[in-house]
Amino acid sequence: MRQRWVIGNWKMHGRRQQNAQLIHEIISVPLWPGLCVAVAPPAIYLQQVHELLIGSGVVLAAQMVSEYEQGAHTGQCAAGMLADMGVQLVLAGHSECRHAGQTDAQVALQVKRVLEQGMSVVLCVGETLEQHERGETLDVVRKQLEVIAGLGAEVANRLLLAYEPVWAIGTGRVASPGHAQWVHQALRSTLAKSLGEPWAMTPILYGGSVKADNAAELLSQLDVDGVLVGGASLKASEFLSLCRLAAQAR
Ligand code: 13P
Repeated sequence: MRQRWVIGNWKMHGRRQQNAQLIHEIISVPLWPGLCVAVAPPAIYLQQVHELLIGSGVVLAAQMVSEYEQGAHTGQCAAGMLADMGVQLVLAGHSECRHAGQTDAQVALQVKRVLEQGMSVVLCVGETLEQHERGETLDVVRKQLEVIAGLGAEVANRLLLAYEPVWAIGTGRVASPGHAQWVHQALRSTLAKSLGEPWAMTPILYGGSVKADNAAELLSQLDVDGVLVGGASLKASEFLSLCRLAAQAR
């Protein structure tokens, strides 16, 4: 059975007081068997959220990481620093970072750094609206997937993928379950063909305008192993509903 996940990407939201309240509510509910739950606060709150999560079983994730190991890179966080702060999971290649200029070459290095530090990585892929309308979805996501070419089977259990169509992020326009399944299945077979069988077990999450009222059918798709959630992860009741749905799906 592939691992199922719900990951909350808080993006640039939260203050100490709100973070404490949100985490308090999330961890007040026992974890669901077979479900991994993670939250990715802004980097400046990693320490605070790490302390709040101790003993809860909820995974601390980071939203981004530098491609450099250390040095004169003002404002950046190295993978070694994230690991040092208790981070276990790091997002790489989020479309909002790609939009700000991040390239596939940088994403490839970020993935490498995260894995070198013993953490897991969520590689985010997804096409823009224009690419979607031109019918280029699979070409785009397969190209973005090339950054993991050459990874050894020993790290296969520390990779997650997230399919996040850019046109669905923060727009309220969620991908249809059929579309998500089609892309997830293509990603899974590309992974298995190019890297080998162990990679067929890679959890593939969907992200983009996921809410409790549209997640059930997405989560019932054969190759949708969970959700990466932005806006709806900022409200505990909504986030917990998504966790319940993910744990019960299939
Ligand atoms: P929304 O759920 O707000 O659309 O954001 C999705 C996302 O980008 C998660 O990484």
